[in-house]
Amino acid sequence: MCGIVGYTGTEPAVDILIEGLQRLEYRGYDSAGVAVQVEDGLSIVRRTGKVGELARACEGLAPASTCGIGHTRWATHGTPSERNAHPQCSCLGDIALVHNGIIENFAELREQLAARGHQFASDTDTEVVAHLVEDAYEDDLLAAVRHAAHQLVGSYGLAVTCAQEPGRIVVTRQDSPIVLAHGKDGSYVASDIIAVIRASRDVVVLGDRQFASLDAQGIRYFDDNGEPIEPEFMHVDWDIDVAEKGGYPDFMLKEIHEQPRVVRDTLAGRMVRGVLKIDELGMSLEELQLVDRVCIIACGTSYHAGLVAKQLIESWARIPVTVEVASEFRYRNPIITPTTLVVAVSQSGETADTLAAISEARIKGGKVFGITNVIGSPVARESDGVIYTKANKEIAVASTKSFLGQVVSLTLLSMVLAQAKGKMTVAQTRLLFRELADTAEQIERILSDTTAIEEAAQACKDATSAFFIGRGMGSAISYEGALKLKEISYLHAEAYPAGEMKHGPIALLSEGFPVIAVATQSPVYGKVISNIRESRTRGALIVAVATEGDEEIIKHADHVIFVPKVRDAFSAITVSVPLQLFARAIAIARGCDVDHPRNLAKSVTVE
Ligand code: AGP
Repeated sequence: MCGIVGYTGTEPAVDILIEGLQRLEYRGYDSAGVAVQVEDGLSIVRRTGKVGELARACEGLAPASTCGIGHTRWATHGTPSERNAHPQCSCLGDIALVHNGIIENFAELREQLAARGHQFASDTDTEVVAHLVEDAYEDDLLAAVRHAAHQLVGSYGLAVTCAQEPGRIVVTRQDSPIVLAHGKDGSYVASDIIAVIRASRDVVVLGDRQFASLDAQGIRYFDDNGEPIEPEFMHVDWDIDVAEKGGYPDFMLKEIHEQPRVVRDTLAGRMVRGVLKIDELGMSLEELQLVDRVCIIACGTSYHAGLVAKQLIESWARIPVTVEVASEFRYRNPIITPTTLVVAVSQSGETADTLAAISEARIKGGKVFGITNVIGSPVARESDGVIYTKANKEIAVASTKSFLGQVVSLTLLSMVLAQAKGKMTVAQTRLLFRELADTAEQIERILSDTTAIEEAAQACKDATSAFFIGRGMGSAISYEGALKLKEISYLHAEAYPAGEMKHGPIALLSEGFPVIAVATQSPVYGKVISNIRESRTRGALIVAVATEGDEEIIKHADHVIFVPKVRDAFSAITVSVPLQLFARAIAIARGCDVDHPRNLAKSVTVE
C-alpha cells in the first residue's frame, strides 16, 4: 500500500523521485516525502496529501543532487501527518530511510533505543529502524542495515541512504516487494516494477533477507550473511503505456474497457486440440480426482469472484465449496485436509490477510493454488500452483478488469475439476469454452452503448442508500455491484439474496429507494421478478439488469439495463460490467475521484 522509490546516478534525483512516486501513488496516498543527498548532509521534504503537494514543495529543491529516496505512505502506525511521513531519520539526521510493511517488535525496540539515548520524533514503527541503523553505523551502511534488519520482526521493504556515503543507497526486504534496475543514467529501486522500468526492462526482484547496494555505476547484491550473490534478472515485456490512461478520463474507465482483452488473454492457449489445459495447476489427474472439498480464500472483490466460483464448481464438479473471508480464516481453526484444494484469490498477490490464510492452510496440510494478477507476487510464490489472470497492471483502486480475470480463471478451474471428476464430457467442455470466449464480444457490445446505465445512474445519484439483489449467480454478483458502488461513490449499498429482503431489509424501503436487481434469464428468473414486485410495491425505484429480448421486465422496473443473452453460468461476467459502469457513473455524478477513493489503498499489506 505504501510505495518506495530510490535513485542514484547522474541526473537530478528530485525529478526522478517525484515521477516515480506519481507512478506509485495508486498504492496509498495520505502523505509522501523525499530525502536527497546534498553537500552538507541530507535534505528532507515531507507533505501530507497527494504527491502533487510534495511536488510543489520540492520545486527548486537540490537541483544538483543525484541521489535520494522517496515514499508514498498509507498510515498504519501514527496518524497521517508530516512528522509521521517517510523518510524517517536518525537522531543526527544523517541517516534517512523509507519503509513499506510493519515492524511488529517496534515498541520493544523503541524502548531499548530510548534507554540508549535515542530521541524519537514520530509515532511510526519505521523510525526505530533509522535509529537501529544509526546505532550500528561505523563506516559501512550495508553492514549497519544488515545489523538492523537482523533485529526486526515483521515485514519490511527498506531503502536507506546516509550523508557519509555519497551516491549510495542500501535496500533490503522481508515479505514486502523490492525491485531494482540499472540503466544508462544510474540505479533505481522501487516497490513496484512500474517505477523502475524507465531505467531498464531487465529488473531484479530482491528476495527475502537479501540486500542490495546501489550507486551510479551499478547494483551489487548480497545474501543475509553479507556474501555477494548473483541476481536473477526478469524481463518485463509489458509497456509503460499500461500505466497511462490511454485517452480515458480515468484509469477505472480505461480498465473497464480493457475487459474484452482480459477475457481473450486469460483464455489464450488454454484449449489445445480440444483439450482444456491448466498446466500451472501442478496437480496430476489422480490428485484432482481425490479433491473432495474446495476452500476459496480471498478478500473484497476477490472474495466475490470466489462466490461466483462456488456456484460453478458445485454445479459442474459436484464438489462442496466454502468461500472464506481471508481475515477470518486463520482465527477460526478451519477444517483443511490433504484432499482439500485451497484456492487463494488475490489481484495484488500481496494482501496480508490472504497470505496469512495461505500459510494457515499449508500448516493444515492443504494444497494451495493461487489466482493472482502479479507475476512473482507473494501469493504466487507461496502457492503450489498459480494462474495469472492476465489483467495487466490495474491502477484504479476499485478492481474491475482483475475481477473479470479472476472469474474467467476460476471458470476454467471449475471446468478442469468437473472434467477430472467425470462430470463434464470433452464435448461439453469445448462448448462451454467457446461460449466463455464469446463473452469478450458480448462485453464489447455492452461497452458500445452505455446510455441506459447512465440514465439509471442519474436517477440514483442523490440516494443515500441502495440495495443490490439477485438469486443464485445474480446474488453473487450483487455483492460485487454493491462493493463497487460504496467504495467509489460513498453511497451506502448492501447486497442481499433477493429472497432475504422480506426477512428484514425490506423495512428500509421507502419512496425512491434504489433497488438494483440482477434479473437475467436463469432458473430463478420468476422468483426474482416476485422479489422485485415486493420492493416496488413499497416504493422502491427498480433498476433491473436483464437479458436482451426480455419484454416482461419492462413492466416491473423503472430502468432496465440489457445485457446479451449468455448461459446463467457466465452471467457474472456480463452483468459485472454494467454494474461497474453504474457505480462509476454515480461516483462521477457525485464529484468523486473514482481512481483514488478515500481511505482505501490498492494493496492491503497489513492485517
Ligand atoms: C476492490 O475494488 C477493492 N479495492 C478490494 O476489496 C480488494 O479486492 C481487496 O482488498 C483484495 O485485494 P487483492 O485482490 O489484491 O487481494
